[in-house]
Amino acid sequence: MALDENMVIPRHVALILDGNGRWAKKRGLPRTMGHKEGCVTVEKTVEIAARMGIEYLTVYGFSTENWKRPMEEVGALMQLFRYYMVRLLKVASANNVRVKMIGDRTRFAQDIIDGIGRLESETRDNTGLTFIIAVNYGGRDEIRRAAARLAADCAQGKRNPEEITEEVFASYLDTAGIPDPDLLIRTSGELRLSNYLLWQLAYTEIYVTDCLWPDFDREELERAIVQYNKRDRRYGGVK
Ligand code: IPE
Ligand code: IPE
Ligand code: MG
Repeated sequence: MALDENMVIPRHVALILDGNGRWAKKRGLPRTMGHKEGCVTVEKTVEIAARMGIEYLTVYGFSTENWKRPMEEVGALMQLFRYYMVRLLKVASANNVRVKMIGDRTRFAQDIIDGIGRLESETRDNTGLTFIIAVNYGGRDEIRRAAARLAADCAQGKRNPEEITEEVFASYLDTAGIPDPDLLIRTSGELRLSNYLLWQLAYTEIYVTDCLWPDFDREELERAIVQYNKRDRRYGGVK
């Protein structure tokens, strides 16, 4: 079944782009080649999502646990990140895309931190798709950082613990002001969240495909949206 004009386009799509390593292995290539190809797919997906009218696209680029990988792989990912930040600025400008990074950027090299800042400030006024990249991101770390800031505000008397609603707490998260994802897509078949958007995914519809991330394309995205349209979102209620 293909996408048709009666279908609802999810407002916010979150992606766990997994399988770069397996894609490379299948071809007898080093893992880093999978990451390189994966970056090309990210670029294409941003353009496709922008044209489809998706309002927010959040991708998991590097988790707080990915530092455990061999030093060479982490180094190669940082180099790719440097290169693609420059390309992304062009893609974002050409497609009216606003870029935002979530996660703890303070652990990156200064030039990467500066590059992230530049990407965000130079695309701030774009009015199309908001493209959110999660880097050095972990759901638990995000909640921990939010709790620490909230506790500091309480200690300074700026907040009253009695008045901490879910909305107040969410405003301390990196995703403040961004609606929760409607659809989560994970490539490469793994049935887990891997510490992604733990707070925000509470009622998100989950779609997992065996497709490896570098092979992901418009048809794969459309298949996920068709499935999303068949879901009955009850939010704990009854129909
Ligand atoms: C996803 O691909 C990219 C990152 C986590 C940076 P992987 O590198 O996890 O690929 P697999 O899971 O080993 O195939
Ligand atoms: C999740 O993929 C993180 C990113 C896509 C950046 P991983 O490959 O790190 O997840 P696990 O290790 O399979 O859970
Ligand atoms: Mg993986």
